[in-house]
Amino acid sequence: MKALVYHGPGQRSWDDVPDPTIEAPTDIVVRIDASTICGTDLHILKGDVPAVQPGTILGHEAVGTVVEKGAGVTTLELGDRVLVSCITSCGRCRFCKERRYGLCTGGGGWIFGHLIDGLQAEYARVPFADTSVYKIPDKLSDEEVLFLADILPTAFEVGVLNGRVEPGDTVAIVGAGPIGLAVVLTSRLFTPAHIVAIDVDEGRLERARELGADVTIDNSANTALAEVMELTGGLGADVAVEAVGLPETFELCTELVRPGGRVANVGVHGHSATLHLETLWIRDLTITTGLVDTFTTPRLLSLIAEGRLDARPFATHHFTLGETMAAYDTFADAAHSHALKVVLTAEPVQVAPVREEAVAGVV
Ligand SMILES: NC(=O)c1ccc[n+]([C@@H]2O[C@H](COP(=O)([O-])OP(=O)(O)OC[C@H]3O[C@@H](n4cnc5c(N)ncnc54)[C@H](O)[C@@H]3O)[C@@H](O)[C@H]2O)c1
Ligand SMILES: [Zn+2]
Ligand SMILES: [Zn+2]
Repeated sequence: MKALVYHGPGQRSWDDVPDPTIEAPTDIVVRIDASTICGTDLHILKGDVPAVQPGTILGHEAVGTVVEKGAGVTTLELGDRVLVSCITSCGRCRFCKERRYGLCTGGGGWIFGHLIDGLQAEYARVPFADTSVYKIPDKLSDEEVLFLADILPTAFEVGVLNGRVEPGDTVAIVGAGPIGLAVVLTSRLFTPAHIVAIDVDEGRLERARELGADVTIDNSANTALAEVMELTGGLGADVAVEAVGLPETFELCTELVRPGGRVANVGVHGHSATLHLETLWIRDLTITTGLVDTFTTPRLLSLIAEGRLDARPFATHHFTLGETMAAYDTFADAAHSHALKVVLTAEPVQVAPVREEAVAGVV
C-alpha cells in the first residue's frame, strides 16, 4: 500500500510500504476512507517529538471501513464504518476505567503516527478496536465526523470543560487556529455572554466571527489585555483558553481573567513559560492543562447526528490520499493558503455544498 512516511526531521515521502496485518486478537485493519493532517504532524516534522522514529507512518485522525478483524474483536463487523480517533484505549488500565484514555498505561493513549504507524495511509492497523473506535451512523458523511478524531474533543475537553464555561460567561480564546476555532464552536454549547477570539491573523478572526465569536481582537500590537478589560468593565474574562502554545500567550491568559477566573491551557509548549505567582497568588485563579481523553466523543457525535453541531466549515481544502504530499504543503502554508483542515480521501469526492446553517456552526 501507499502511506506518508516520516524519515527524520524535515523529511517525508509518499512511499510503498507493506500492508498492515492483524498482530493481536484485539486488532482490526481498516481501509482509510478519509484522513487529515494536524498541527502536531508539523511539530513532528520539525523534530519536536523525538519519540517518533524515522520510518513511522504519520497521521492520527481518520474515518475507515473494517476490512479485517482479530479473533477477539466482538463488537465490530467487516464493512462497519468507524471513526479512528487520535486516542486509543486499552479499556482495562486504571486511567481507561476513569475515562482518562489519554493517560492510558496499557498500550493505548496517543499512539497513531507517534509510537505506531498512523492513519495517513491506504490501510491501518487499529489496536484495542472494541474500546477505541466509534461506529458512524449511516446518515453521516465521512467529512461530517472526521474532525471528531481530534480537534473537536480536544477543544471541548481541554478548553471548554476544563475551563468550566458557564452560561453568561465571557470566554477569551487566545489563538484562532483549528483548535481555538473549535473552542469558539463548542463553547457555544454553554451559551456564554461573550466569545472573544484573539489572534494576529485577520483571516482567522474572520473565521472566528463566522463560527460564533461576537468579539474579535487583532493582537498584533499587543492590545488584547486592554480591550478585554474594556469589554468587561475592568474585571477580566471569566475563562481564558490558551490555544497557541507560546510563553507570551500563556502569560496573557493569566492576565486576561478576572479574580477567581479559570485559565485552560490547550497549547503545546516547546519552551518554559513564567507563572507570575508574585501577582497571581492573591487572584484565586485555576489553571488547567491536559491532553485530550476523547471521553466526550460519543456526546459530540450525537450532537452532530442530531444537527446541533456542524464541523464541516473546518474543511477548507480537499485532496485524494495520493496527493498527501501536496496537502502537507498547503496545510503548512496556512498564512497564504488560509487552510484550516485539509481532507484527504481515498477517492476523489464530490463535495456537497456546506448547508447554510453550517456557517453558524452550532445550530
Ligand atoms: N492539548 C492537546 O491535547 C492538544 C491537541 C492538539 C493541538 N494542541 C495544540 O494547540 C495549539 C493550537 O493548535 P492549532 O492547530 O490551532 O495551531 P495553529 O498554529 O494553527 O494556531 C495557532 C494560532 O495562534 C495565533 N497566534 C500566534 N501568535 C499569537 C499571539 N501572540 N497572539 C494571538 N494569537 C497568536 C496564530 O496566528 C494561529 O492562528 C498548538 O500549540 C497545538 O500543538 C494541543
Ligand atoms: Zn492532532
Ligand atoms: Zn488503558
